[in-house]
Amino acid sequence: MEDIYISGTGVWTPPHKISNDELVKSFNQYVDLFNAENADQINAGVIDALEHSSSEFIVKASGIKSRYVIEKDSLLDPKRMKPLIEARADDELSFSAEVSVIAAKQALENADLKPSDIDCVIVSAANLQRAYPAVAIEVQNELGIEGFAYDMMVGCSASTFGINNAYSDIKAGKSSKILVISPEITSGHNNFKNRDGHFIFGDVCTAVVIEKASKAKNKFKIIDTKLKTTFSNNIRNNFGYMNTIEDKKYSEAEQLFVQNGRRVFKEVMPFVSSLILEQLSEHNLSPEDIERYWLHQANINMNAYVIKKLLGDDFSSDRAPIVLDEYANTSSAGSIIAFHKYNQLDDGQKGIICSFGAGYSICSILLEKA
Ligand SMILES: CC(C)(COP(=O)(O)OP(=O)(O)OC[C@H]1O[C@@H](n2cnc3c(N)ncnc32)[C@H](O)[C@@H]1OP(=O)(O)O)[C@@H](O)C(=O)NCCC(=O)NCCS
Repeated sequence: MEDIYISGTGVWTPPHKISNDELVKSFNQYVDLFNAENADQINAGVIDALEHSSSEFIVKASGIKSRYVIEKDSLLDPKRMKPLIEARADDELSFSAEVSVIAAKQALENADLKPSDIDCVIVSAANLQRAYPAVAIEVQNELGIEGFAYDMMVGCSASTFGINNAYSDIKAGKSSKILVISPEITSGHNNFKNRDGHFIFGDVCTAVVIEKASKAKNKFKIIDTKLKTTFSNNIRNNFGYMNTIEDKKYSEAEQLFVQNGRRVFKEVMPFVSSLILEQLSEHNLSPEDIERYWLHQANINMNAYVIKKLLGDDFSSDRAPIVLDEYANTSSAGSIIAFHKYNQLDDGQKGIICSFGAGYSICSILLEKA
């Protein structure tokens, strides 16, 4: 069988950056307004007063220092607390498709390919804009690509599960050159009024080219993909296309991201390190044989835990690069941003892209610099 490669990546970064201090200032203004407006109920013990957030907590608990978002002024307005974007008509390019095309063109340039070389587009993200028509088919149309396209959703592992699908489609002879795009516009799903999570997410879009017979200069042979899922309600979003027929009226908060962060931390960590160790042993490799780990970017303490389990205390920080300090948790795009920015390896050196998150879902992709 011909070798299959990741041959190019692209990242679209939104133009608006928000520091922790800016985010916390607006959150605390929102809290003060809420408490003043609801003073009677708070004093009567009917509802609890809201508490302030703090930049020190955010950095200590998560390692996040800033995030990029698609719109900033409305998000920081204590009377709104979420971005505001113009609705687009059905005959205009959707927001997700627009940023997907930008990231895709960058990935194609890095792979030394034209859109017409591609024969399949997979848009795989946790934060898809709509159910149908598929954003992937819209992107396919915009780039003038022949062949087929489809959307898929696998929580924070959507990008790597998408790469796995591309790898399998090429192996099965259905395609030869595939774009996997992850428009993670998390702002639409995040609850910026929730103290436990208002700081967690950022927006971004990544794109990856997977192909056989690559002529790209900087490419990585896919040696293996390993996937695992196990059901958990600890990361959940109840927004859905059946909400309108349920005998319940959902509040806005009930249609946004919720998690039990502590339990996620505890339960997902052993799951990740054991899956990577299993994969390495299946290939007669040890953790030291892996030059770089491009891990999911949700929490700096989680990544430190995984790396410590694999490499012990003594490892240099460039073995597992961090981008969440700048980008925050960008859902499935995080490990791909890390790969895009820190993929300078020597020929023959190996690396692992590993995502983990809602589902729970994990995917580890073992690569070798070609
Ligand atoms: C979300 C996360 C950063 C929270 O960190 P944590 O240390 O578990 O924080 P907790 O929610 O347990 O809260 C700890 C304390 O900080 C306080 N706190 C929570 N949010 C706060 C905020 N914004 N500002 C200040 N204090 C805060 C809590 O009230 C609590 O105080 P207490 O100990 O007096 O009760 C962390 O659990 C995490 O990253 N988990 C994994 C998440 C993940 O990867 N999810 C996948 C999403 S796709």
